[in-house]
Amino acid sequence: MARIVVVGSINMDLVTTVRRRPEPGETMSGEGFALVPGGKGSNQAIAARRAGAEVTFVGAVGDDVFAEELRRVLHDAGVRVSRLRRVDGPSGVAAIVVDGNGENSIIVVGGANSRMTELDDADLEAIAAADVLLCQLEIPVPTVVAAARHARANGTAVVLNPSPVQELPAELWAEVDIAVVNEGEAAQLGSALDAVPHVITTLGADGAIYRGPDGITLPQPGVRVNVVDTTAAGDTFTGALAAHWHEGPEIALAWASTAGALATTKLGASASIPTRSEIERLLSR
Ligand code: RIB
Repeated sequence: MARIVVVGSINMDLVTTVRRRPEPGETMSGEGFALVPGGKGSNQAIAARRAGAEVTFVGAVGDDVFAEELRRVLHDAGVRVSRLRRVDGPSGVAAIVVDGNGENSIIVVGGANSRMTELDDADLEAIAAADVLLCQLEIPVPTVVAAARHARANGTAVVLNPSPVQELPAELWAEVDIAVVNEGEAAQLGSALDAVPHVITTLGADGAIYRGPDGITLPQPGVRVNVVDTTAAGDTFTGALAAHWHEGPEIALAWASTAGALATTKLGASASIPTRSEIERLLSR
């Protein structure tokens, strides 16, 4: 069983479903509303755990009404929350609109995630003892750099999902072993990804493509499902990939793409992440 530490974000998602998105200046009726725990870090932690890894989450919630529910969802999924701190002020939130095609638009307000500016000794010990460090970019980049540097120095593999995409210092790319990007992120990052030995580009319904250190590529076909909501599909893909990376890229990609596809069949981030047995059932078909 892989031991994974996720250093990342945790948000309460405010999810509105609509048939189509409003035009600028338009007011329209929505079809439904739900509060669903999310955040790229938390989603990836739950996905890795459900795919079979032992997972510790390093992150922050605020002191508001959302904080306890955010902690509970991670804990109930079996993710270790001893490194989840509570800071003054609001927790992270994400305003999400899901349209009739299952496509989403997301606005994230960082809240407590923006306060993740320090890693303490216990966080660093957890990273050093793990097989894989998994990071995204919804917490301050210097914290991601510090986590990645410490991981590399201690033989922990670094998986980066550089989302929301932004320009990153070369010192971070130098520490990354595996990058998971979507097509838009790959286009924006361009040659920065050349420094990364293993790059997986997700292609939505068309699956994913892996490029290894030798330049050899491996396509992973998509898994056909009825799409309800694509929120957290990429997070679920990344978490499952990290959980099975030690079995080699081919097996890890099969788990990732099956888990990611299943995540699109239900509404909401953490609520849509499949269990190990759901993934195995679809994998064995
Ligand atoms: O990737 C999906 C996630 O992005 C949502 O859960 C939302 O919180 C934002 O972080």
